[in-house]
Amino acid sequence: MVSHPKYLKKIFKNSSEHIEKTNFYDFFKDILGKGISIVTGPIWHNNRKALQPAFQYAMLEDFNKIFNKTGDKLLKKFEKILGRQVDVSPYINSSTMETTYESILGLNFEENPEENLKYSNTIYQYIDTCLERIFSPIKRSDFLYQLMPEHKKQQERLQEILNFTSAIVDKKREEMKRRSGDNISENSDFGIKKKSTLLDIILERFKTDEDLPYEYINEELSTFLTAGHHTVTSVLSSILYELSKHEDVQEKLFEEISSIIEDAKCISTKDINAMEYMECVVKEGLRLYSPATYIERKLDYDVEVDGSIIPKGTSINIFIFQLHRSEQVYKNAMKFDPDRFSAANIDGRDPMAFIPFSFGIRNCIGWKFAMIQIKCLLAKIIYNYRMQPLSQHFKLQLYSDGILKSKNGFPVNLSRR
Ligand code: HEM
Repeated sequence: MVSHPKYLKKIFKNSSEHIEKTNFYDFFKDILGKGISIVTGPIWHNNRKALQPAFQYAMLEDFNKIFNKTGDKLLKKFEKILGRQVDVSPYINSSTMETTYESILGLNFEENPEENLKYSNTIYQYIDTCLERIFSPIKRSDFLYQLMPEHKKQQERLQEILNFTSAIVDKKREEMKRRSGDNISENSDFGIKKKSTLLDIILERFKTDEDLPYEYINEELSTFLTAGHHTVTSVLSSILYELSKHEDVQEKLFEEISSIIEDAKCISTKDINAMEYMECVVKEGLRLYSPATYIERKLDYDVEVDGSIIPKGTSINIFIFQLHRSEQVYKNAMKFDPDRFSAANIDGRDPMAFIPFSFGIRNCIGWKFAMIQIKCLLAKIIYNYRMQPLSQHFKLQLYSDGILKSKNGFPVNLSRR
């Protein structure tokens, strides 16, 4: 297990090294196996290259329109919980699921909101059960596991997940057919070239690349639908919780937002990029509440650390959560202090000290998407609401099921500004 920048730098000398995933991820192979987060070697390189355009700069402008729309819907839901201490994470989760669905798939979430949210829960129950298996010597055995009642339940969940992603593909194909049947070219909206969503790219690849197995489509969709929204939910909920304890940070943020935006319903990426203090607040949230608590990699070759050799093929667990909370790396590490990320204070800090999106060529493909989404939502919330102090005795009960969560939720008491 590695949780210090000094050792990370020794092991990862080059950004393209040690990108292979460990056996840990085998437990997820039935739903994510052929997706980008698990595959390795030339398949990973090809897939990453093919999918990267779905996150290019030009796409982010379009995504930001969706962030604004779903953000305004979230504010409407918040109107119903004013003046009470309420766990905000389920509200944020339905908003981030909608955002991911509309931006990554290019489909209308409202056509089937209950089904979409049910999928979001089912896939996490499935992943939770996989994690239980990893940590149970008996359940790890495929042979013994197949004899347990849980296996049957897990198979039912798997079928539900596959039905959901297959229905998405059918819907998209129908839409594509309809578009080509209209007198408008498939690739244009009123003469403007339409940008391809991730789902368009996946389906196009499947048409032209004979080597891609059918399961690739479902497993790649599940990869993005899972990676894309629970992470954002986790960090945004924890930031709101911290802000309720730091009125000074809220007010400083409010002043910055008010000085930049002209219309709270339409916050542009230019506005967002101009918010320097916002950047510090979000980064401090990602430090203290890193949604991806750990990642695992396999060593490509023998590595020498402090006179000992770690052999090629060893599984390395990079414990991001601990690294970000280490007193050796951050002074007063447990304090929520956005000023740590001010230009003056980051000077000289080791880049490996802050890795919420991992690092190197196999970092998070959606990190820019995530950053703009979090900032857009946070700007809307802070512009409209204050977070009132919580009861003194409340203490978060954090745990990780791959993503950082809290057993007693992330309570916030909102009041209108
Ligand atoms: C705050 C939000 C997010 C955090 C903290 C985060 C964190 C991470 C981390 C640490 C990894 C590396 C995992 C590893 O090496 O095993 C990763 C990979 C990945 N993330 Fe994110 N992520 C976030 C949001 C997103 C979003 C919004 C998307 C897509 C819409 C996304 C899609 C992915 C994918 C597909 C991978 C696998 C990349 C590959 O293996 O090439 N993530 N993410």
